[in-house]
Amino acid sequence: MSHPSTPDRILIFDTTLRDGEQSPGATLNVEEKLTIAKQLARLGVDIIEAGFPFASPGDFEAVHKIAREVGTPEGPTICGLARATRADIERAAAAIKPAAKGRIHTFLATSDIHMQYKLRKSRAEVLAIAPDMVAYAKTFTPDVEFSPEDAGRSDPEFLYQVLEAAIAAGATTVNIPDTVGYLTPSEFGELIRGIKANVPNIDQAVISVHGHNDLGLAVANFLEAVKQGARQLECTINGIGERAGNAALEELVMALHVRRSFYNPFFGRPPESDQSLTAIDTRQIYKTSRLVSNLTGMFVQPNKAIVGANAFAHESGIHQDGVLKNRLTYEIMDAQSIGLTDNQIVLGKHSGRNAFRSRLQELGYDLDDQSLNRAFLRFKELADKKKEITDWDIESIVNDETQQAPEHFSLDLVQVSCGNNSRPTATVILHTPDGQELMDAAIGTGPVDAVYKAINRVVQLPNQLIEFSVQSVTAGIDALGEVTIRLRHGDRVFSGHAANTDIVVASAHAYLHALNRLHASLQTGKSLHPQRDTAAVSASL
Ligand code: KIV
Ligand code: ZN
Repeated sequence: MSHPSTPDRILIFDTTLRDGEQSPGATLNVEEKLTIAKQLARLGVDIIEAGFPFASPGDFEAVHKIAREVGTPEGPTICGLARATRADIERAAAAIKPAAKGRIHTFLATSDIHMQYKLRKSRAEVLAIAPDMVAYAKTFTPDVEFSPEDAGRSDPEFLYQVLEAAIAAGATTVNIPDTVGYLTPSEFGELIRGIKANVPNIDQAVISVHGHNDLGLAVANFLEAVKQGARQLECTINGIGERAGNAALEELVMALHVRRSFYNPFFGRPPESDQSLTAIDTRQIYKTSRLVSNLTGMFVQPNKAIVGANAFAHESGIHQDGVLKNRLTYEIMDAQSIGLTDNQIVLGKHSGRNAFRSRLQELGYDLDDQSLNRAFLRFKELADKKKEITDWDIESIVNDETQQAPEHFSLDLVQVSCGNNSRPTATVILHTPDGQELMDAAIGTGPVDAVYKAINRVVQLPNQLIEFSVQSVTAGIDALGEVTIRLRHGDRVFSGHAANTDIVVASAHAYLHALNRLHASLQTGKSLHPQRDTAAVSASL
């Protein structure tokens, strides 16, 4: 379905897999991207920006696979990003081809600072390239989006001209990015108002907004833009993205959901209308957040709105008393509305494969036989150690076990000795796919340090550990511990994540997960960055 130029609701354009993945350390492999895309489809997003296909063969493959497997006739539109060059557009077109609904999103900077220093192009050149490339994209798909990059700092008069030319050339969506997160809400609202008033053919395109959170204003800016007629919001799960991130999908959707009566009149509806303003199934929000956090290694801060661990926790005595008398005293939304169900005890030691499979299905996981077998083995191991298994344990196992990067180094043994008055010592044995057994031992300042030193001696991939965190999945001394780490190698960051009842074992797996990603990236080479690698754009024309 193509969208009318003035949709009567908000279109959610999710760019977790493109702009979100551009955040340092959030790199995902093809299978992980596909897993997230499937979950985004369950969440109900309208458009998935699946990647930047020109960046590398891996990026192309991911977009192509998502287009084939998630871009079904009932599914979301699948979008590929392209700089304003023929080569980029051709690659994006080929990647989205299998999708029932495919979009090419091409962009070109319009701010003086970007044109002068990044593109080395004059206004006249940019004004010629933009429609030219939109028209070229249009030869591959009717659904073309154009973004004047750094619109927030562009001269509005010049911006109006570029937008008019892009729409005349066939752009069906014009996206207004605040690329550097500079604008305030009233300025952003004014920018959209000005575009509506001064771009003569604006009624032929959907107005979209895109913004970064450098000043923490991205969501507020978008909500102001909605009041002025923006009907597509470009956002990411957990707000991940370049620098301080992008506008967070869950915050936008829940603001429009909880404050529907405030926003309804801007859509020509009576305030009391209870028709949803987005097509999102809000009950999928929490699960999507956990999945993205686990796979990208981008930790969600406890006080993060909507999906943070404390967002629905009523710790203080006064609050609890109020909530018990009437929940509305301190809660503006119901935890269940984002899918945060009571963490029920669902399975135990004697639960069989069928019970495990059917609980997974109820939770929305549809695993192939191989993944199911691996997850079931992990479940049995856990049930031996932990009497009561909850939904959160099951989700943690599934996320951890079935969606890991292909392993080069796999862990056979980790053994530590530590305690007071002793020197923490670790021995590790790793295996490589060619059957090599690699063993070493090291002394550290603590057990995890000793394990990491022993692994370093074996793996020989120099790196700096920049983040290490442990969280428990549930309460209780026998809880699963989830370890998330990030490490730096040169100018690149890699993350790793693992769960185990033994946090030393989880730490070893998380470290190897990140090292396997580092190893894979050394084999495949670096991906191009769509906004910083501009040589191809500068060379065009
Ligand atoms: O922030 C930005 O300007 C972008 C564009 C590619 C839309 O991500
Ligand atoms: Zn961006």
